[in-house]
Amino acid sequence: MDTPGFAIAIMAAGKGTRLKSKRPKVLHEIGGRALLLHVIAAAKQVVAAENIYCIIGHEADRVRDAVASTGVQFVLQTEQRGTGHALQMVKASFALSGAPVPENLLVLSGDVPLIRPETIEHIRQVHLGEKAAMTILTAVPPDPTGYGRVIRANPGTSSPEVLGIIEQKSLSADQLDTPEINSGIYCFQTSALFEKLDLLDTNNAHGEFYLTDVAAMLVADRERVVAVKADSIDEVLGANTIAEMMHLDAAMRFATAKRLMASGVTIFRPETAVIDSEVTVGPDTVIEPYVQLLGATRIGSDCRIRSYSVIQNSTIGDQVIVRNGCIMDSASVADSAVLGPYAHLRPESNIGVGAHLGNFVETKKVTLGAGSKANHLNYLGDAVIGAGVNVGAGAITCNYDGVHKHQTTIGDNVFVGSDSTLVAPVTIESGAYIAAGSCITEDVPSGSLAIGRSRQTTKEGWVARKKQAGESH
Ligand code: UD1
Ligand code: CA
Repeated sequence: MDTPGFAIAIMAAGKGTRLKSKRPKVLHEIGGRALLLHVIAAAKQVVAAENIYCIIGHEADRVRDAVASTGVQFVLQTEQRGTGHALQMVKASFALSGAPVPENLLVLSGDVPLIRPETIEHIRQVHLGEKAAMTILTAVPPDPTGYGRVIRANPGTSSPEVLGIIEQKSLSADQLDTPEINSGIYCFQTSALFEKLDLLDTNNAHGEFYLTDVAAMLVADRERVVAVKADSIDEVLGANTIAEMMHLDAAMRFATAKRLMASGVTIFRPETAVIDSEVTVGPDTVIEPYVQLLGATRIGSDCRIRSYSVIQNSTIGDQVIVRNGCIMDSASVADSAVLGPYAHLRPESNIGVGAHLGNFVETKKVTLGAGSKANHLNYLGDAVIGAGVNVGAGAITCNYDGVHKHQTTIGDNVFVGSDSTLVAPVTIESGAYIAAGSCITEDVPSGSLAIGRSRQTTKEGWVARKKQAGESH
């Protein structure tokens, strides 16, 4: 889709004072991803990363680090003196680098995250078709308060022409009910924009250089400024406060849930599901209320994910049952496994086909073979466990000696009796039995029984003798 002579600038240098947060605004997340990354992803669908100029300033290093992997260019705005000033910095950077100035420059806001590539492309087409100096993306939301308003030249007609943009604080009494907002997204003929940037001033409510003032300046020069309305209002909503962000987050996650439902996934009470946009789920999987599916999670088909489970960056096969309250992070679970309730799969847990992990079982860096079971109150860390193994209630691996982690290896078809402690490094070969309550510190050969506890002694008649002794005092 790339056209020579076309570039995109993304304004992302502001602090986001209205958020009252230490984190820069454009790094706040919706749908599990930073606002700015959403905007960059949309821009990259339209132009190559080297034609995207990200204007950064407040906490510039942090913002740059968070998005550097996208390959975009950066323009530094050390002092944030307004959106007009942000574009002045772009102009200065072209002058400094000597890079060719693109014929048209599309400007996006780092805090308007739901913008779609199709809409960016549409603005560009309208801009070229109208031969405009400036094309403004607008919308008519239910509550326009807080946004700059677009003043039309011929209101009530089909003419797209605009007279100017007036910021909320500068609206006169008769302009207060102007319904059409400026989305903060524009396409400019770059030479016309650059000429006007130098003429901006700070005589306004915020004492800033407003990019929006360029509209009226161009009109005064008889240049063409037009508005194009967005198809969806959500797409142009800004995220200036946490509440606005959570509104967008909900809209985005609801769209994800709807997409999954359209592909055959059942989601009960979809408004309670917290599902990141990259998550994939196979058909006929059922997701109960209050489930979180985060990051790069992939779930197969015919699974059931019961309420209150939180699954992050994990892969789950087909026909898996995840009972209530499971927590999974960077784990992988093969087909037909059964987890929980309340299983905790920490990173590098690989659960085999048809394996079971029951209540209050924690795993970390573990491979559990096909059909193996650890059903009650276990801790399994740094272990390779074969197929057909039964780990009894309360049995654990002691993988940490206070300084180093050590490995436990368990062969196929081993039976680990309840409440055993396996002190690593230790190997239990296939088919061996561990007696309940054992503390195993030495390797156990295949097919043997290991008992690592003191023998039971039973003192017959002891209770009666004790009572008698008590009475004689
Ligand atoms: C801006 C528009 C307003 C529009 C609204 C849409 C102006 C003057 N007003 O207002 O008409 O309705 O967006 O969301 O442009 N930024 C910089 N450098 C700066 C200041 C801001 O890069 O010096 C960036 C911010 O990080 C942000 C974007 O520009 O991503 C918009 O800035 P913000 O302060 O949020 O503008 P609004 O008040 O929302
Ligand atoms: Ca804003």
